[in-house]
Amino acid sequence: MRDELIDPAIPDDHERAVDVDAQAIAERPDIVGIRPTSLDEFVGQGELKRRLRIMLEAAKKREQASDHLLFAGPPGLGKTTLAGIVAHELGVQLHVTSGPTLERAGDLAAMLTNLGEGDVLFIDEIHRLSRTVEEVLYPAVEDFQLDIMLGKGPAARSIRLDLPRFTLVGATTRTGLITGPLRDRFGLVARLDFYEVDDLEAIVVRAAEIIAADIDGAGAHEIARRSRGTPRIANRLLRRVRDFAEVEGDGVIDATVASDGLAAFGIDELGLDKVDRAILLALCDRFGGGPVGLSTLAIAVSEPTETVEDVYEPFLIQQGLLMRTPRGRVATMAAWQHLGVAPPPAAQAAADPSLFDD
Ligand SMILES: Nc1ncnc2c1ncn2[C@@H]1O[C@H](COP(=O)(O)OP(=O)(O)O)[C@@H](O)[C@H]1O
Ligand SMILES: [Mg+2]
Repeated sequence: MRDELIDPAIPDDHERAVDVDAQAIAERPDIVGIRPTSLDEFVGQGELKRRLRIMLEAAKKREQASDHLLFAGPPGLGKTTLAGIVAHELGVQLHVTSGPTLERAGDLAAMLTNLGEGDVLFIDEIHRLSRTVEEVLYPAVEDFQLDIMLGKGPAARSIRLDLPRFTLVGATTRTGLITGPLRDRFGLVARLDFYEVDDLEAIVVRAAEIIAADIDGAGAHEIARRSRGTPRIANRLLRRVRDFAEVEGDGVIDATVASDGLAAFGIDELGLDKVDRAILLALCDRFGGGPVGLSTLAIAVSEPTETVEDVYEPFLIQQGLLMRTPRGRVATMAAWQHLGVAPPPAAQAAADPSLFDD
């Protein structure tokens, strides 16, 4: 069974961003207010915020659309939120779609002809755009022109439509999969990093206020510390710990309640969830610490390769638990220690990062 609670790949990221976001909000009135709507409310990512503020201020001063923006990084770090903030700060309409939804050139054309002057078009998972749709996007983002083919065969002709000046905001979990020509058309390519515990703590405190959860500083710190550096997970764990506090305690979330609540939902000391641990266990137990290929590892934990690569691996690498090497994935000494297992001698050698300096 997949645990929706700790699975960072909730649908608003990996499937149709459009409907699911709206649906999630409709069903969960308590999360409506949690998504920050202005740059000031957006916690952390200081450097990115500063650059964005400069670009948006400048665009507003010139009364023009902003340059196109690309946000990259693992799920749950705030890419969709930022797209909303950009539209809000510019005071324009936000139009949301995603790479996989735009199947045919006509789908994109329909979105483009719906845009108002200066509007923001957000394309989530832009790395999954098909080639033909991407071809339509180029003249649109560069010259604000749309080429449409009318008819077929010898009688076919193409007409060119003027589009309003708009701002494209793209989001991707994989910068590596964005084609060069597409990437070059963005005025800013921003990579979102995992958040520091302090920032996550501020996010938890802010969210707790909005959903009226009773939490103290130590409780917020405990949740923040175990949120995999990810705001979406911090918010989700806060809701689960609040449930726990209300059912098994007196509703107040302090460090002990937070810790017990997180344990009850299978979050370990480092904030790793069931799948994270399954990956490390498979790597150490079944494959002697590696190196093992990504797809083999993914099969061993019954997850799609893409999910392991986009969702789980980045945090394990960031935590120094797993390494990517030319020969495959390798468990580090820290991984063995975290699992409480003594590594065989061969694994000790493999886990030595100095062997892979390149
Ligand atoms: N910097 C931030 N400050 C406060 N809340 C944030 C921040 N980044 C993300 N969040 C919260 O985390 C959730 C997930 O963010 P989202 O923008 O959907 O991530 P992504 O699109 O990168 O997967 C949002 O609902 C939002 O409430
Ligand atoms: Mg998103």
